[in-house]
Amino acid sequence: MAKPQLQLALDHTNLESALQTVKILHPYIDIIESGTILCVSEGMKAVRELRALYPDHTLVADLKVADAGETLATEAFNAGADWMTVICAAPLATMAKAHEVAQARGGEIQIELFGNWTLDDARAWHQLGIKQAIYHRGRDAQASGQSWGKADLDLMKQLSDIGLELSITGGIVPEDLPLFRDITVRAFIVGRALAQAADPAAAANAFHSAIDALWGDQHA
Ligand code: 5RP
Repeated sequence: MAKPQLQLALDHTNLESALQTVKILHPYIDIIESGTILCVSEGMKAVRELRALYPDHTLVADLKVADAGETLATEAFNAGADWMTVICAAPLATMAKAHEVAQARGGEIQIELFGNWTLDDARAWHQLGIKQAIYHRGRDAQASGQSWGKADLDLMKQLSDIGLELSITGGIVPEDLPLFRDITVRAFIVGRALAQAADPAAAANAFHSAIDALWGDQHA
């Protein structure tokens, strides 16, 4: 099991402020995400500029695609994304088309787990060849008081058993990380706790300290 990576989600409503954030944080993160909010606000221009500025980081277009998998994956991967997200509610045909484009470009599709999905769905995604999923506590769910619980951890383990690599997101702070100690985590995806921190570099270091303390015996 490799050590979890740190992914910065840029959920800004304009590219200029997103670029200011990533300028500070890029030495401390492994993966840069053009978040859904940034993609909606600025389009694939955000992905293109991030690719040009940070050629060595893994770059995610968090489009949460629900339809037109081939067209939207072509847009995202042409803009320079390495990974693109598809929402779990999308038809299997959308996932298959998006995955086909990703594979042709050496990229990957990540399934965003929000709302209603089943382990049978997860098996079907994995059978298509999709390797990654994102276990997501939505902003609105978090704001309404939903916290991480045993049911989440059990589902995460079952998804891992199916063979899906999991990233975890949704209002994550360093104090949450011990909860996930027994899960194989590809990346922790963090937006506000990094981008809105008074000292973003110190906040990133707090995540790395927690990751090292919990998974330090594993390779990066
Ligand atoms: C919202 C997202 C966010 O980018 C992700 O959850 C990280 O943001 P935060 O840490 O601020 O919750 O995908 O749909």
